[in-house]
Amino acid sequence: MTTTDILGREEIVRLVDRFYEKVREDETLGFIFDKVAAIDWPSHLPKMYAFWQTVLFRDGGFRGDPIGKHARLVPLTAMGREQFDCWLALFEETVDELFTGENAAHIKRCAADMANVIHAKINAVPDERFDPMKITAEQRARYAAYRSAAP
Ligand code: HEM
Repeated sequence: MTTTDILGREEIVRLVDRFYEKVREDETLGFIFDKVAAIDWPSHLPKMYAFWQTVLFRDGGFRGDPIGKHARLVPLTAMGREQFDCWLALFEETVDELFTGENAAHIKRCAADMANVIHAKINAVPDERFDPMKITAEQRARYAAYRSAAP
């Protein structure tokens, strides 16, 4: 059993490298990276180190367009709940294999939240929080206050 938490760049690199090794071997996901998107691994991996370093430690300097990049895949291949659940299961499995601790738990929660957001946005799944029919009077007043405070 591992006793190491994710403490910085070094651990992020180990996590990301191992995760994408698994992804490339996976039946549901591998071909999306290698055939559909035909991504350039030597540039994708450093981007993902920066991404997770930014998420976890706010210092990775990631800049990108994750929603746009995934949205482009939708007309080309299945990008539904099944694919996102598979992605997340592999990610969690990799974290658990290598790390344990607060940051390890946190990165899994972040991944799950982002998988939900990316899945919902690229498939235009309605989010009840933003359904005008379900907004409470209190929320309505708050949003109106933002609008009137806007420059
Ligand atoms: C079905 C699940 C997923 C698949 C098949 C997938 C596939 C891909 C592919 C092919 C790219 C490269 C796109 C390009 O450069 O044109 C990419 C980029 C990326 N993915 Fe995913 N992804 C999945 C889920 C996720 C999730 C859940 C996250 C976040 C937790 C994530 C984070 C990113 C980021 C940050 C990039 C770089 C975006 C950029 O360059 O701006 N992906 N993904």
